[in-house]
Amino acid sequence: MEKTFEDGQPHFSEESGVNKDGQPEYWVVKTTPIRNAEGDIVAAMEVNLDVTQHKLLEQQLEKSEKKYHEIFNSIPNPVFVLDAESLEIRDCNAAVQSVYGYERREILLRRFVELFPEEEQLRYVARVLRSDVIHQARQIHKDGRILFVDMWISPAEYPGRRVLLVTTSDITKRLETEQHLIQASKMATLGEMATGVAHELNQPLAVIKTASRFFIKKVRNQEPIPESIIATLSEEIDSHVDRATRIINHMREFGRRADRQMDPIQVNDVIRKSLEIFSQQLKVRGIDVVLNLAEPLPLVRADANRLEQVCINLLINARDAIEAKVGSSPHLKGEKKIFLTTQPQKGRVLIEVRDTGQGIPRAVIGKIFEPFFTTKEVGKGTGLGLSISYQIIQEFGGSIRPESREGQGAAFIISLPAV
Ligand SMILES: Nc1ncnc2c1ncn2[C@@H]1O[C@H](COP(=O)(O)OP(=O)(O)OP(=O)(O)O)[C@@H](O)[C@H]1O
Ligand SMILES: [Mg+2]
Repeated sequence: MEKTFEDGQPHFSEESGVNKDGQPEYWVVKTTPIRNAEGDIVAAMEVNLDVTQHKLLEQQLEKSEKKYHEIFNSIPNPVFVLDAESLEIRDCNAAVQSVYGYERREILLRRFVELFPEEEQLRYVARVLRSDVIHQARQIHKDGRILFVDMWISPAEYPGRRVLLVTTSDITKRLETEQHLIQASKMATLGEMATGVAHELNQPLAVIKTASRFFIKKVRNQEPIPESIIATLSEEIDSHVDRATRIINHMREFGRRADRQMDPIQVNDVIRKSLEIFSQQLKVRGIDVVLNLAEPLPLVRADANRLEQVCINLLINARDAIEAKVGSSPHLKGEKKIFLTTQPQKGRVLIEVRDTGQGIPRAVIGKIFEPFFTTKEVGKGTGLGLSISYQIIQEFGGSIRPESREGQGAAFIISLPAV
Protein backbone atom coordinates (compact mmCIF):
# COMPACT_ATOMS: atom_id res chain seq x y z
CA MET A 1 0.00 0.00 0.00
CA GLU A 2 2.81 2.32 0.92
CA LYS A 3 4.56 1.77 -2.38
CA THR A 4 1.35 2.34 -4.29
CA PHE A 5 0.86 5.65 -2.49
CA GLU A 6 4.46 6.59 -3.25
CA ASP A 7 4.78 5.71 -6.93
CA GLY A 8 1.16 5.50 -8.01
CA GLN A 9 1.65 2.03 -9.53
CA PRO A 10 -0.18 -1.21 -8.84
CA HIS A 11 1.89 -3.78 -6.87
CA PHE A 12 1.80 -7.54 -6.30
CA SER A 13 3.21 -9.66 -3.57
CA GLU A 14 2.81 -13.02 -1.91
CA GLU A 15 2.17 -12.85 1.81
CA SER A 16 1.70 -15.39 4.51
CA GLY A 17 0.28 -15.24 7.95
CA VAL A 18 -1.70 -17.15 10.47
CA ASN A 19 -5.48 -17.24 10.39
CA LYS A 20 -7.91 -17.04 13.23
CA ASP A 21 -7.54 -20.79 13.96
CA GLY A 22 -3.76 -20.56 14.10
CA GLN A 23 -3.30 -22.30 10.71
CA PRO A 24 -0.85 -20.86 8.15
CA GLU A 25 -2.47 -19.00 5.30
CA TYR A 26 -1.10 -17.71 2.02
CA TRP A 27 -2.37 -14.82 -0.06
CA VAL A 28 -1.57 -13.16 -3.35
CA VAL A 29 -1.97 -9.46 -2.69
CA LYS A 30 -2.69 -6.78 -5.31
CA THR A 31 -2.88 -3.06 -4.62
CA THR A 32 -4.31 -0.48 -7.02
CA PRO A 33 -4.28 3.35 -6.62
CA ILE A 34 -7.56 5.30 -6.72
CA ARG A 35 -7.33 8.85 -8.09
CA ASN A 36 -9.63 11.87 -7.91
CA ALA A 37 -10.60 14.06 -10.90
CA GLU A 38 -7.28 15.94 -10.66
CA GLY A 39 -5.31 12.71 -10.83
CA ASP A 40 -4.11 12.78 -7.22
CA ILE A 41 -4.01 9.53 -5.31
CA VAL A 42 -6.63 9.74 -2.63
CA ALA A 43 -6.95 6.06 -1.76
CA ALA A 44 -5.68 2.62 -2.61
CA MET A 45 -7.46 -0.67 -2.96
CA GLU A 46 -6.05 -3.98 -1.76
CA VAL A 47 -7.36 -7.31 -3.06
CA ASN A 48 -6.24 -10.48 -1.30
CA LEU A 49 -6.61 -13.81 -2.99
CA ASP A 50 -6.42 -16.83 -0.69
CA VAL A 51 -3.98 -19.34 -2.25
CA THR A 52 -3.51 -21.54 0.82
CA GLN A 53 -4.89 -24.64 -0.96
CA HIS A 54 -2.53 -24.18 -3.95
CA LYS A 55 0.39 -23.57 -1.71
CA LEU A 56 -0.21 -26.70 0.33
CA LEU A 57 -0.60 -28.77 -2.85
CA GLU A 58 2.65 -27.36 -4.16
CA GLN A 59 4.45 -28.31 -0.97
CA GLN A 60 3.00 -31.80 -1.09
CA LEU A 61 4.09 -32.16 -4.69
CA GLU A 62 7.59 -31.07 -3.84
CA LYS A 63 7.66 -33.57 -1.01
CA SER A 64 6.42 -36.40 -3.19
CA GLU A 65 8.84 -35.47 -5.95
CA LYS A 66 11.61 -35.59 -3.41
CA LYS A 67 10.35 -38.93 -2.21
CA TYR A 68 10.31 -40.37 -5.75
CA HIS A 69 13.73 -39.00 -6.37
CA GLU A 70 14.96 -40.75 -3.27
CA ILE A 71 13.36 -44.00 -4.35
CA PHE A 72 14.86 -43.57 -7.83
CA ASN A 73 18.28 -43.09 -6.29
CA SER A 74 18.07 -45.96 -3.91
CA ILE A 75 17.18 -48.53 -6.58
CA PRO A 76 20.23 -50.81 -6.47
CA ASN A 77 20.24 -51.29 -10.25
CA PRO A 78 21.36 -48.58 -12.64
CA VAL A 79 18.36 -46.78 -14.16
CA PHE A 80 18.67 -44.43 -17.14
CA VAL A 81 16.04 -42.07 -18.49
CA LEU A 82 16.54 -41.60 -22.23
CA ASP A 83 14.95 -39.25 -24.71
CA ALA A 84 12.77 -41.60 -26.75
CA GLU A 85 14.05 -40.24 -30.06
CA SER A 86 17.64 -39.11 -29.68
CA LEU A 87 18.42 -41.72 -26.98
CA GLU A 88 20.27 -39.03 -25.04
CA ILE A 89 20.58 -39.69 -21.33
CA ARG A 90 18.27 -37.22 -19.55
CA ASP A 91 18.63 -38.58 -16.06
CA CYS A 92 20.12 -41.48 -14.20
CA ASN A 93 20.21 -42.75 -10.64
CA ALA A 94 23.06 -43.14 -8.20
CA ALA A 95 23.66 -46.83 -8.98
CA VAL A 96 24.96 -45.80 -12.41
CA GLN A 97 28.10 -44.50 -10.80
CA SER A 98 28.79 -47.62 -8.78
CA VAL A 99 28.31 -49.93 -11.77
CA TYR A 100 29.56 -47.83 -14.69
CA GLY A 101 31.98 -45.50 -12.88
CA TYR A 102 30.47 -42.33 -14.38
CA GLU A 103 29.22 -39.48 -12.25
CA ARG A 104 25.76 -38.30 -13.17
CA ARG A 105 26.92 -34.99 -14.63
CA GLU A 106 29.55 -36.74 -16.78
CA ILE A 107 27.02 -38.90 -18.48
CA LEU A 108 24.04 -36.57 -18.88
CA LEU A 109 23.24 -35.67 -22.49
CA ARG A 110 25.55 -38.36 -23.85
CA ARG A 111 23.93 -40.91 -26.10
CA PHE A 112 23.08 -44.12 -24.29
CA VAL A 113 24.36 -46.30 -27.13
CA GLU A 114 27.86 -44.95 -26.52
CA LEU A 115 27.95 -47.30 -23.55
CA PHE A 116 28.03 -50.25 -25.96
CA PRO A 117 31.31 -51.22 -27.65
CA GLU A 118 31.69 -49.23 -30.84
CA GLU A 119 31.26 -52.11 -33.28
CA GLU A 120 27.98 -53.14 -31.62
CA GLN A 121 26.35 -49.72 -31.26
CA LEU A 122 24.54 -49.76 -34.58
CA ARG A 123 23.06 -53.16 -33.89
CA TYR A 124 21.67 -52.07 -30.53
CA VAL A 125 20.10 -48.73 -31.55
CA ALA A 126 17.14 -50.49 -33.12
CA ARG A 127 16.65 -52.81 -30.18
CA VAL A 128 16.74 -49.95 -27.67
CA LEU A 129 14.22 -47.99 -29.75
CA ARG A 130 12.00 -51.07 -29.87
CA SER A 131 12.09 -51.36 -26.05
CA ASP A 132 13.47 -54.88 -26.16
CA VAL A 133 14.72 -56.95 -23.29
CA ILE A 134 18.41 -57.44 -24.00
CA HIS A 135 20.33 -60.28 -22.38
CA GLN A 136 24.07 -60.36 -21.87
CA ALA A 137 24.77 -57.10 -23.61
CA ARG A 138 28.32 -55.85 -23.43
CA GLN A 139 28.83 -52.35 -22.04
CA ILE A 140 31.91 -50.33 -21.32
CA HIS A 141 32.86 -49.14 -17.84
CA LYS A 142 34.41 -45.69 -17.51
CA ASP A 143 37.82 -47.29 -17.01
CA GLY A 144 37.45 -49.22 -20.28
CA ARG A 145 36.70 -52.72 -19.02
CA ILE A 146 33.77 -54.71 -20.38
CA LEU A 147 30.66 -55.30 -18.28
CA PHE A 148 28.01 -57.86 -19.08
CA VAL A 149 24.49 -56.67 -18.28
CA ASP A 150 20.90 -57.75 -18.72
CA MET A 151 18.78 -54.81 -19.79
CA TRP A 152 15.08 -54.01 -19.59
CA ILE A 153 13.74 -51.08 -21.58
CA SER A 154 10.27 -49.62 -21.26
CA PRO A 155 8.62 -46.52 -22.69
CA ALA A 156 7.28 -43.94 -20.21
CA GLU A 157 6.14 -40.31 -19.90
CA TYR A 158 8.55 -37.99 -18.16
CA PRO A 159 7.34 -34.45 -17.49
CA GLY A 160 5.49 -34.06 -20.77
CA ARG A 161 7.83 -35.91 -23.11
CA ARG A 162 8.26 -39.48 -24.26
CA VAL A 163 11.21 -41.22 -22.66
CA LEU A 164 12.63 -44.70 -22.36
CA LEU A 165 13.45 -46.13 -18.95
CA VAL A 166 16.43 -48.47 -19.09
CA THR A 167 17.19 -50.67 -16.10
CA THR A 168 20.33 -52.74 -16.24
CA SER A 169 21.67 -55.51 -14.06
CA ASP A 170 25.37 -56.25 -13.85
CA ILE A 171 25.85 -59.97 -14.44
CA THR A 172 29.62 -59.93 -15.09
CA LYS A 173 30.45 -61.76 -11.85
CA ARG A 174 27.71 -64.31 -12.37
CA LEU A 175 28.87 -65.07 -15.90
CA GLU A 176 32.44 -65.49 -14.72
CA THR A 177 31.34 -67.98 -12.08
CA GLU A 178 29.23 -69.81 -14.62
CA GLN A 179 32.19 -69.94 -16.98
CA HIS A 180 34.28 -71.57 -14.27
CA LEU A 181 31.55 -74.09 -13.55
CA ILE A 182 31.09 -74.92 -17.22
CA GLN A 183 34.81 -75.38 -17.57
CA ALA A 184 34.97 -77.55 -14.47
CA SER A 185 32.19 -79.80 -15.65
CA LYS A 186 33.78 -79.92 -19.08
CA MET A 187 37.00 -81.19 -17.57
CA ALA A 188 35.00 -83.91 -15.83
CA THR A 189 33.42 -84.79 -19.18
CA LEU A 190 36.84 -84.88 -20.79
CA GLY A 191 37.91 -87.39 -18.16
CA GLU A 192 34.89 -89.53 -19.09
CA MET A 193 35.79 -89.22 -22.73
CA ALA A 194 39.37 -90.31 -22.20
CA THR A 195 38.41 -93.99 -22.04
CA GLY A 196 36.55 -93.71 -25.31
CA VAL A 197 39.40 -91.88 -26.93
CA ALA A 198 41.88 -94.52 -25.83
CA HIS A 199 39.77 -97.09 -27.62
CA GLU A 200 39.44 -94.92 -30.66
CA LEU A 201 43.18 -94.33 -30.86
CA ASN A 202 43.95 -98.02 -30.44
CA GLN A 203 42.47 -98.86 -33.79
CA PRO A 204 44.62 -96.62 -36.01
CA LEU A 205 47.64 -97.52 -33.90
CA ALA A 206 46.96 -101.22 -34.47
CA VAL A 207 46.76 -100.70 -38.23
CA ILE A 208 50.01 -98.73 -38.25
CA LYS A 209 51.71 -101.33 -36.08
CA THR A 210 50.66 -104.15 -38.41
CA ALA A 211 52.00 -102.32 -41.44
CA SER A 212 55.32 -101.44 -39.81
CA ARG A 213 55.79 -104.99 -38.56
CA PHE A 214 55.18 -106.25 -42.09
CA PHE A 215 57.82 -103.86 -43.47
CA ILE A 216 60.37 -104.80 -40.80
CA LYS A 217 59.90 -108.50 -41.46
CA LYS A 218 60.30 -108.10 -45.21
CA VAL A 219 63.40 -105.93 -44.84
CA ARG A 220 65.00 -108.33 -42.33
CA ASN A 221 64.44 -111.28 -44.59
CA GLN A 222 65.65 -109.18 -47.50
CA GLU A 223 62.51 -110.00 -49.39
CA PRO A 224 61.28 -107.58 -52.03
CA ILE A 225 58.00 -105.79 -51.33
CA PRO A 226 55.75 -105.42 -54.33
CA GLU A 227 55.22 -101.79 -55.22
CA SER A 228 51.45 -102.09 -55.10
CA ILE A 229 51.62 -103.30 -51.48
CA ILE A 230 53.91 -100.44 -50.49
CA ALA A 231 51.41 -98.06 -52.02
CA THR A 232 48.38 -99.55 -50.25
CA LEU A 233 50.05 -99.84 -46.87
CA SER A 234 51.47 -96.33 -46.88
CA GLU A 235 48.06 -94.96 -47.82
CA GLU A 236 46.53 -96.93 -44.95
CA ILE A 237 49.14 -95.57 -42.55
CA ASP A 238 48.57 -92.06 -43.82
CA SER A 239 44.81 -92.17 -43.43
CA HIS A 240 45.01 -93.72 -39.96
CA VAL A 241 47.44 -91.08 -38.78
CA ASP A 242 44.94 -88.50 -40.05
CA ARG A 243 42.19 -90.21 -38.13
CA ALA A 244 44.21 -90.21 -34.92
CA THR A 245 45.07 -86.54 -35.41
CA ARG A 246 41.41 -85.73 -35.91
CA ILE A 247 40.45 -87.40 -32.65
CA ILE A 248 43.19 -85.60 -30.73
CA ASN A 249 42.31 -82.24 -32.26
CA HIS A 250 38.69 -82.80 -31.40
CA MET A 251 39.60 -83.41 -27.75
CA ARG A 252 41.75 -80.32 -27.70
CA GLU A 253 39.02 -78.25 -29.35
CA PHE A 254 36.46 -79.51 -26.88
CA GLY A 255 38.63 -78.65 -23.90
CA ARG A 256 39.30 -75.08 -24.89
CA ARG A 257 37.49 -72.33 -23.00
CA ALA A 258 34.40 -71.40 -24.96
CA ASP A 259 33.86 -67.74 -25.82
CA ARG A 260 30.40 -66.33 -26.05
CA GLN A 261 30.31 -66.42 -29.85
CA MET A 262 27.18 -67.80 -31.47
CA ASP A 263 27.02 -68.75 -35.13
CA PRO A 264 24.54 -70.58 -37.35
CA ILE A 265 25.45 -74.24 -36.96
CA GLN A 266 24.14 -77.62 -38.08
CA VAL A 267 22.88 -79.67 -35.13
CA ASN A 268 23.37 -82.98 -36.97
CA ASP A 269 27.09 -82.28 -37.33
CA VAL A 270 27.38 -81.58 -33.63
CA ILE A 271 25.65 -84.85 -32.75
CA ARG A 272 27.85 -86.84 -35.11
CA LYS A 273 30.88 -85.18 -33.57
CA SER A 274 29.88 -86.02 -30.00
CA LEU A 275 29.41 -89.62 -31.08
CA GLU A 276 32.79 -89.73 -32.78
CA ILE A 277 34.49 -89.79 -29.41
CA PHE A 278 31.78 -91.37 -27.38
CA SER A 279 30.40 -94.23 -29.49
CA GLN A 280 33.32 -96.54 -28.77
CA GLN A 281 32.81 -96.57 -25.04
CA LEU A 282 29.09 -97.16 -25.52
CA LYS A 283 29.82 -100.07 -27.86
CA VAL A 284 32.14 -101.64 -25.28
CA ARG A 285 29.25 -101.60 -22.80
CA GLY A 286 26.92 -103.19 -25.32
CA ILE A 287 24.83 -100.04 -25.75
CA ASP A 288 23.53 -99.42 -29.28
CA VAL A 289 23.05 -95.92 -30.57
CA VAL A 290 20.17 -95.51 -33.01
CA LEU A 291 20.63 -92.38 -35.08
CA ASN A 292 17.66 -90.76 -36.68
CA LEU A 293 18.81 -87.41 -38.03
CA ALA A 294 16.44 -85.41 -40.23
CA GLU A 295 17.97 -84.12 -43.47
CA PRO A 296 17.76 -81.36 -44.40
CA LEU A 297 17.63 -79.70 -40.98
CA PRO A 298 17.58 -75.91 -40.58
CA LEU A 299 20.56 -74.27 -38.87
CA VAL A 300 20.35 -72.90 -35.33
CA ARG A 301 22.26 -70.03 -33.74
CA ALA A 302 24.50 -71.54 -31.09
CA ASP A 303 28.03 -72.36 -30.11
CA ALA A 304 28.96 -75.81 -31.48
CA ASN A 305 31.42 -76.46 -28.70
CA ARG A 306 28.91 -75.88 -25.92
CA LEU A 307 26.09 -77.70 -27.71
CA GLU A 308 28.40 -80.68 -27.97
CA GLN A 309 28.95 -80.45 -24.23
CA VAL A 310 25.17 -80.69 -23.75
CA CYS A 311 24.91 -83.73 -26.05
CA ILE A 312 27.74 -85.50 -24.25
CA ASN A 313 26.19 -84.73 -20.84
CA LEU A 314 22.92 -86.28 -22.01
CA LEU A 315 24.72 -89.29 -23.49
CA ILE A 316 26.61 -89.89 -20.24
CA ASN A 317 23.37 -89.65 -18.25
CA ALA A 318 21.68 -92.09 -20.65
CA ARG A 319 24.61 -94.48 -20.34
CA ASP A 320 24.52 -94.31 -16.53
CA ALA A 321 20.74 -94.84 -16.45
CA ILE A 322 21.01 -97.92 -18.65
CA GLU A 323 23.87 -99.32 -16.59
CA ALA A 324 22.00 -98.64 -13.37
CA LYS A 325 18.98 -100.54 -14.63
CA VAL A 326 20.95 -103.53 -15.87
CA GLY A 327 23.17 -103.42 -12.79
CA SER A 328 20.30 -103.51 -10.31
CA SER A 329 18.65 -106.50 -11.97
CA PRO A 330 21.13 -108.37 -14.16
CA HIS A 331 18.56 -111.02 -15.07
CA LEU A 332 16.61 -108.24 -16.80
CA LYS A 333 17.67 -108.56 -20.39
CA GLY A 334 16.13 -105.34 -21.61
CA GLU A 335 17.39 -103.60 -24.69
CA LYS A 336 20.32 -101.30 -24.08
CA LYS A 337 19.66 -98.53 -26.53
CA ILE A 338 20.03 -94.79 -26.95
CA PHE A 339 17.93 -93.13 -29.63
CA LEU A 340 19.24 -89.86 -31.02
CA THR A 341 16.69 -88.02 -33.08
CA THR A 342 16.60 -84.61 -34.74
CA GLN A 343 13.62 -83.12 -36.44
CA PRO A 344 12.45 -79.72 -37.70
CA GLN A 345 9.22 -78.41 -36.22
CA LYS A 346 7.51 -75.08 -36.98
CA GLY A 347 10.59 -72.88 -37.14
CA ARG A 348 12.39 -74.85 -34.48
CA VAL A 349 14.80 -77.75 -34.35
CA LEU A 350 14.11 -80.58 -31.92
CA ILE A 351 16.83 -82.82 -30.54
CA GLU A 352 15.80 -85.88 -28.59
CA VAL A 353 18.06 -88.15 -26.54
CA ARG A 354 16.03 -91.17 -25.43
CA ASP A 355 17.31 -94.12 -23.45
CA THR A 356 16.06 -97.48 -22.20
CA GLY A 357 17.43 -96.92 -18.71
CA GLN A 358 15.73 -96.89 -15.33
CA GLY A 359 13.80 -93.68 -15.95
CA ILE A 360 13.59 -90.73 -13.60
CA PRO A 361 11.59 -91.29 -10.40
CA ARG A 362 8.56 -89.01 -10.21
CA ALA A 363 9.76 -87.67 -6.86
CA VAL A 364 12.98 -86.24 -8.25
CA ILE A 365 11.99 -85.11 -11.72
CA GLY A 366 11.39 -81.56 -10.48
CA LYS A 367 14.90 -81.32 -9.09
CA ILE A 368 17.13 -82.78 -11.76
CA PHE A 369 18.05 -79.38 -13.27
CA GLU A 370 19.18 -78.00 -9.92
CA PRO A 371 22.92 -77.59 -9.52
CA PHE A 372 24.51 -80.38 -7.48
CA PHE A 373 21.40 -82.55 -7.51
CA THR A 374 22.52 -86.10 -8.11
CA THR A 375 21.26 -89.57 -7.26
CA LYS A 376 24.58 -91.11 -8.16
CA GLU A 377 27.04 -92.35 -5.60
CA VAL A 378 29.81 -90.11 -4.33
CA GLY A 379 32.56 -89.79 -6.88
CA LYS A 380 30.32 -90.76 -9.77
CA GLY A 381 28.21 -87.67 -10.28
CA THR A 382 28.50 -84.07 -9.19
CA GLY A 383 25.01 -83.11 -10.29
CA LEU A 384 26.22 -80.40 -12.62
CA GLY A 385 25.57 -82.00 -16.01
CA LEU A 386 21.91 -81.09 -16.39
CA SER A 387 22.06 -77.72 -14.66
CA ILE A 388 24.82 -76.59 -16.99
CA SER A 389 23.07 -78.07 -20.02
CA TYR A 390 19.91 -76.19 -19.05
CA GLN A 391 21.80 -72.95 -18.77
CA ILE A 392 23.58 -73.42 -22.11
CA ILE A 393 20.33 -74.22 -23.93
CA GLN A 394 18.68 -71.14 -22.37
CA GLU A 395 21.51 -69.03 -23.63
CA PHE A 396 20.79 -70.29 -27.14
CA GLY A 397 17.18 -69.14 -26.70
CA GLY A 398 15.91 -72.71 -26.48
CA SER A 399 14.36 -75.04 -23.94
CA ILE A 400 15.00 -78.51 -22.59
CA ARG A 401 12.48 -80.80 -20.90
CA PRO A 402 12.56 -84.34 -19.58
CA GLU A 403 10.15 -87.16 -20.26
CA SER A 404 10.20 -90.30 -18.22
CA ARG A 405 8.49 -93.64 -17.89
CA GLU A 406 9.69 -95.06 -14.64
CA GLY A 407 11.56 -98.30 -15.14
CA GLN A 408 11.41 -98.03 -18.92
CA GLY A 409 13.57 -95.08 -19.80
CA ALA A 410 13.88 -91.34 -20.00
CA ALA A 411 14.15 -88.79 -22.77
CA PHE A 412 15.40 -85.24 -22.93
CA ILE A 413 13.95 -83.03 -25.63
CA ILE A 414 15.77 -79.86 -26.64
CA SER A 415 14.02 -77.28 -28.76
CA LEU A 416 16.05 -74.52 -30.43
CA PRO A 417 14.81 -71.71 -32.66
CA ALA A 418 15.87 -72.21 -36.28
CA VAL A 419 17.83 -69.39 -37.95
N1 LIG B 1 18.62 -90.26 -18.66
C1 LIG B 1 18.34 -90.29 -17.36
N2 LIG B 1 17.66 -91.31 -16.80
C2 LIG B 1 17.39 -91.34 -15.47
N3 LIG B 1 17.77 -90.37 -14.60
C3 LIG B 1 18.45 -89.32 -15.08
C4 LIG B 1 18.77 -89.22 -16.47
N4 LIG B 1 19.45 -88.07 -16.65
C5 LIG B 1 19.54 -87.49 -15.43
N5 LIG B 1 18.96 -88.23 -14.49
C6 LIG B 1 18.86 -87.91 -13.06
O1 LIG B 1 19.16 -86.53 -12.87
C7 LIG B 1 20.23 -86.37 -11.94
C8 LIG B 1 21.02 -85.15 -12.30
O2 LIG B 1 21.70 -85.30 -13.52
P1 LIG B 1 23.00 -84.45 -13.82
O3 LIG B 1 23.51 -84.83 -15.16
O4 LIG B 1 22.69 -83.02 -13.56
O5 LIG B 1 23.99 -84.91 -12.69
P2 LIG B 1 24.79 -86.26 -12.57
O6 LIG B 1 24.73 -87.02 -13.86
O7 LIG B 1 24.28 -86.95 -11.36
O8 LIG B 1 26.27 -85.74 -12.30
P3 LIG B 1 27.25 -85.10 -13.40
O9 LIG B 1 26.48 -84.94 -14.66
O10 LIG B 1 27.68 -83.82 -12.80
O11 LIG B 1 28.35 -86.09 -13.52
C9 LIG B 1 20.99 -87.66 -12.03
O12 LIG B 1 21.74 -87.92 -10.87
C10 LIG B 1 19.87 -88.68 -12.24
O13 LIG B 1 19.24 -89.00 -11.02
MG1 LIG C 1 25.19 -86.11 -15.73
